[in-house]
Amino acid sequence: MQKNWFQHAVAYQVYPKSFSDSNGDGIGDLKGITAKLDYLKTLGVDLLWICPVCCSPMADNGYDISDYYHVDPSMGRDADLDELIAEAKKRGIALMMDMVLNHCSDQHELFRKATANPEGEEASFFYIRKGHDGQPPNNWRCWFGGSAWEPIGESGYYYLHVFTKHQPDLNWENPKLRRRIYRMLNYWLDKGVAGFRMDAITDLKKLPLDTQLSPDGQDGLAAVSRWTENIPGIGDFLSEMRDQTYGRVNAATVGEAGGVHTREDLEKYISLDHGYFSMIFDFCVSRINVGFYWHDRTSWTPEDFKAKLKASSENAGERCWMGIVLENHDQPRCIDHFLPPEGQNFYGASMLGLMQLMRRGTPFLYQGQELGMRNVHWKTIDQYNDVSSQSQYRAAREKGYTNEQAMEFIYEMSRDNARTPFQWNDGPNAGFTFGTPWLPVNENYLEINAEQQLEDLASLLRWYQQLIALRKRSEWSEVLALGSERHLPELGQNVLAYIRQLKQKKLLVVCNFQNQEAEISRLSNRSKSVLSNYGVPVTEGENWKLRPFEALLIDESEEK
Ligand code: GLC
Ligand code: CA
Repeated sequence: MQKNWFQHAVAYQVYPKSFSDSNGDGIGDLKGITAKLDYLKTLGVDLLWICPVCCSPMADNGYDISDYYHVDPSMGRDADLDELIAEAKKRGIALMMDMVLNHCSDQHELFRKATANPEGEEASFFYIRKGHDGQPPNNWRCWFGGSAWEPIGESGYYYLHVFTKHQPDLNWENPKLRRRIYRMLNYWLDKGVAGFRMDAITDLKKLPLDTQLSPDGQDGLAAVSRWTENIPGIGDFLSEMRDQTYGRVNAATVGEAGGVHTREDLEKYISLDHGYFSMIFDFCVSRINVGFYWHDRTSWTPEDFKAKLKASSENAGERCWMGIVLENHDQPRCIDHFLPPEGQNFYGASMLGLMQLMRRGTPFLYQGQELGMRNVHWKTIDQYNDVSSQSQYRAAREKGYTNEQAMEFIYEMSRDNARTPFQWNDGPNAGFTFGTPWLPVNENYLEINAEQQLEDLASLLRWYQQLIALRKRSEWSEVLALGSERHLPELGQNVLAYIRQLKQKKLLVVCNFQNQEAEISRLSNRSKSVLSNYGVPVTEGENWKLRPFEALLIDESEEK
């Protein structure tokens, strides 16, 4: 593989639990994924990120790992993962595993030993401290609400958890722990995985644990997320990890890296020569309408969206590399999230797809995005599985919102929106399982499913396939992979436009982000349309005439 091969890749994220169930227990599994590799091959992707499949009590659906060397029985056997890696490779698809290194499960053997003896050797692998006067060591609030410290029985000791109490944070200050982690990463690299997606990776370094923060809520606590992300000193851990593991081989890594925004930080994290990672996710537009609490709303316009993309692109510049996303297993579906009701159709969805897939960076599609899968609306909060939906619902009710209002926030933001089973066909359970699915299938599977869209040349799936082919196997592949990106906000109100350029090759991307027509002038008399989600573009004199949510790809190449 050539250096920086990931710059040419198109990635696809699978949430194994919800992708395909091979044995009818209602839970998606590794054999299920292997059985669908041909589908991914047909779509055209060549890098596959699977969310965690290692042993886990599933308090946070696999993001609480109790054994990093073995596959969780609900996902299959260890050999099934070997098979998936090998079968994917045969089809030219590289596999990226999800590594959860900030915390493990409270059922991990080390943690059990640590809590059995809070003064013992194993306790030094975690953050275990004595409380004061029956209070936790500090006033940090965890991601999912409540104190970030959990008492260890009656011992007077507490342990730190930035996420749920079933996810104790690992003490990266301890070199013995770091060595154990590197050994584990190397084990998986030796097995032939192409790299890692690094979960919550900027949380590894903590503020001094005696730091009392000024409270930001009535509970007297302060959101820990703001205080443990990208703390100075983290670079020592990250560069050591890189040099000891994936940096030795030509592996690709993508960081879920909250708190990394400045140019200086970006260069440390993701410069193409020597970043800590190959890339981090570009979350510049994720959760565009909410704050930490889903009931803290902000309104936004397509102009804001444009500004965010432009800033992010300029921030990354020529030397940094990003993973480009619209969806993942923590976010709502992009059609519901980014489009007004009038645009929640083929045109809006295909516009978003073009906007994402033509950008500079490695695009990551999330399972079902290519079908236009949608959010769900279940009646009661009890029907939701996602832990953050539960805590956000509670927070909204405590704030005084009615049940109906609180449910609206859940409808909009719940992580279950993205976690409903993949819609393969219009058969029972959308073809996901022949048993009872662990999470209900979205009722719209009769209209939205892969089988139908594969047969329909005008479907969203076919559109995505076409975009991926442009990126992977066309005269535009080089410029789309390696070209620069320059935004042209002035081209039109609510029109998002950017240019990709490599030497003479130049592509203009234009997205009419509104339910109205717009006219934009041609940039040159060489302008030639390559693709429109309306089929044939319309010109008027010197202008391109854009229809609602029309997306255009225009050849602006200069003469040789
Ligand atoms: C990341 C994962 C999310 C998980 C959390 C804790 O944000 O994407 O699903 O809950 O880390 O591991
Ligand atoms: Ca199964």
